[in-house]
Amino acid sequence: MYVCVCHAVTEDVVREHMAAGACTAKEVRAACGMRPGCGSCVNRICAMLRDTPAEPEEAVDAAA
Ligand code: FES
Repeated sequence: MYVCVCHAVTEDVVREHMAAGACTAKEVRAACGMRPGCGSCVNRICAMLRDTPAEPEEAVDAAA
C-alpha cells in the first residue's frame, strides 16, 4: 500500500527507513527521497511512527 502517492513510496519502504533510524516524519520523508508534494502523507507517516513500538532497550547487566 502506498503511503505517499505523489512519490510512489510504499509502507514497506517507510518501515525500512524507520528501522534504520528515521524517527520523525521529516526524517522519513528525507530518507525516502520524498520531495515537496501535496503533504497528505505526513499524517500517514506520523501514524506509522506512533503505532510502531520503540526498539526494546538493551538489557541492563545487573551484575555491573
Ligand atoms: S502523498 Fe506524499 S507528498 Fe503527496
